[in-house]
Amino acid sequence: MLKTNFLDVELSNPLMNASGVHCMTTKELDELATSEAGAFVTKTATRDYREGNPEPRYYDTALGSINSMGLPNNGLDYYLDYVIERQRAGAKLQFLSVTGMSYDENIALLKKIQESEYEGVTEFNLSCPNVPGKPQIAYDFELTDKLLAEVFTFFTKPIGVKLPPYFDIAHFDEMAKILNKYPLTYVNSVNSVGNGLYIDLDKEQVVIKPKGGFGGLGGEYIKPTALANVRAFRERLNPSIKIIGTGGVINGKDIFEHILCGADLVQVGTTLHKEGVSVFARLTKELQEVMKEKGYSSLDDFRGKLKVI
Ligand code: DHB
Repeated sequence: MLKTNFLDVELSNPLMNASGVHCMTTKELDELATSEAGAFVTKTATRDYREGNPEPRYYDTALGSINSMGLPNNGLDYYLDYVIERQRAGAKLQFLSVTGMSYDENIALLKKIQESEYEGVTEFNLSCPNVPGKPQIAYDFELTDKLLAEVFTFFTKPIGVKLPPYFDIAHFDEMAKILNKYPLTYVNSVNSVGNGLYIDLDKEQVVIKPKGGFGGLGGEYIKPTALANVRAFRERLNPSIKIIGTGGVINGKDIFEHILCGADLVQVGTTLHKEGVSVFARLTKELQEVMKEKGYSSLDDFRGKLKVI
């Protein structure tokens, strides 16, 4: 009932982790790989190991989460070795997330992937909001265009981009126009809603240490924004560019809504962090229940078919 194809690989369901959650170590990745998730993505890797921001840097709230992790990761080689090893063992579809700390590092990372034997998908993260002093690439339209133009002079493997949320129709138009120039496999919307502030009222204090308490929001807070971004890009992007919907998935109904807006796959971050990998068994069951109630037998029955009035 939940089967779906991505790059000609049949997945048991459209669910994945969102990069950053439960994907830092090979142990966590192994747990994802053997979970009910249809696919998984690695923690966004930079060229070198990074410690990340000081703790506390992630906090669960009643309606979601706030984080300012600061890209802690084990470096590209760690994750590239992992996916290559799994590929040699027969793994079919994997997602390797990367971002550079500079323009040149972005190019160097992607060249390394291009030159490696890795045949899976690369998720190029243009939207990390948590590194002090580093604006998100994807909020700079000109830079995004320039970077993608250079990437596609040499990169021929499947690649998608992870985007931050946009809040203005003109920005949807402008970004979609840029993305449509390139042979992207997919667009992933959205990364965390950047730089919110959550307060512990009793203590009259922020809850995370980096950046005076500012951090990316996830969870229930962000579902309407995530759905708007999925819908806006599905309406504007070339049909060849798939969409991964991320943001605000708490239950099966939320997944249904993402797919109704046009998502091909759906990623889960905050709720995976709260519940662990067993969340995928719960969510697949709940999604099937919603579909049964509505009389749908496959995802294609309702994907992208949101009605307007
Ligand atoms: C981090 C957060 C993000 O939203 C992202 O896209 C990449 C990294 C982080 O703080 O580690």
